[in-house]
Amino acid sequence: MAKPIIKAFFDEPTNTISYLVADPATKEAAVIDPVLDYDHNAGAVDTRSVKAILREAEAEGFRIRWVLETHAHADHLSGAPYIKAKTGALIGIGEHIKDVQRIFRPVFNAIDLATDGSDFDHLFKDGEHFQVGDLDVEVLHTPGHTPADVSYKIADAVFVGDTIFMPDYGTARADFPGGDAQRLYRSIRRLLALAPETRLFMCHDYKAPGRDEYAWETTVAEQKSKNVHVKEGVAESDFVRMRAKRDATLAAPRLLLPSIQVNIRAGKFPPKQSNSVRYLQIPVKMKDDAEFGL
Ligand SMILES: [Fe+2]
Repeated sequence: MAKPIIKAFFDEPTNTISYLVADPATKEAAVIDPVLDYDHNAGAVDTRSVKAILREAEAEGFRIRWVLETHAHADHLSGAPYIKAKTGALIGIGEHIKDVQRIFRPVFNAIDLATDGSDFDHLFKDGEHFQVGDLDVEVLHTPGHTPADVSYKIADAVFVGDTIFMPDYGTARADFPGGDAQRLYRSIRRLLALAPETRLFMCHDYKAPGRDEYAWETTVAEQKSKNVHVKEGVAESDFVRMRAKRDATLAAPRLLLPSIQVNIRAGKFPPKQSNSVRYLQIPVKMKDDAEFGL
């Protein structure tokens, strides 16, 4: 099978890598994990990141058919609706997004939100195949970071979302609601059972200590021999213990609350309120109202 054309777009404010993946024969393309720029202090959105992807697609003559989310991200807002509006592309995500919607609907009192995944155009099942031009895409359910994570395998390239990071950085956290370190370990083992030369493309990079450059491409072989958290020989129980200890030290991502409530709606913002303004909500954690005179 032909190899896909892969172009990476790095968003430094959220350390996210988005991809434009195209079939060289038909020039049909997919965008994976696009970022909507968002200034949290100002509540302002900007489309420079998605526009850069669309410009590149146009320059290359690609027709974008799909916007593929690896999961409901907790660190950036999705740019999927903008790409859909400009190209007619379909937005796809793993079918277990329904579980994530069910978890977070009450958290944000998102009474407008259906929890059947219908905000998305397509929900992928584990093992499902679909085409981007002549390229075959296989969807692998790789839960653990969230219940809904999927990886997309296109020829010899796999877009792994938040399962593993570069070998010198390790793995994704598993402490979000519905996350599970044991499931993450098993998902990673599934990915690392692919052919050793399989190329793996990360969703995030933070530079590991001692590394000056961002990086996002590695291989199964390299992960198996070098990943600091899950190289071959690391037992599941040791990984789960390590992950729990490490996750206990991690702060909530800066854009956690805005990201979740937008991304579970397939990148749409909550409905306008009576003054025609859309608001993002912050659920305040407060144990005792009376103590605060409320
Ligand atoms: Fe994530």
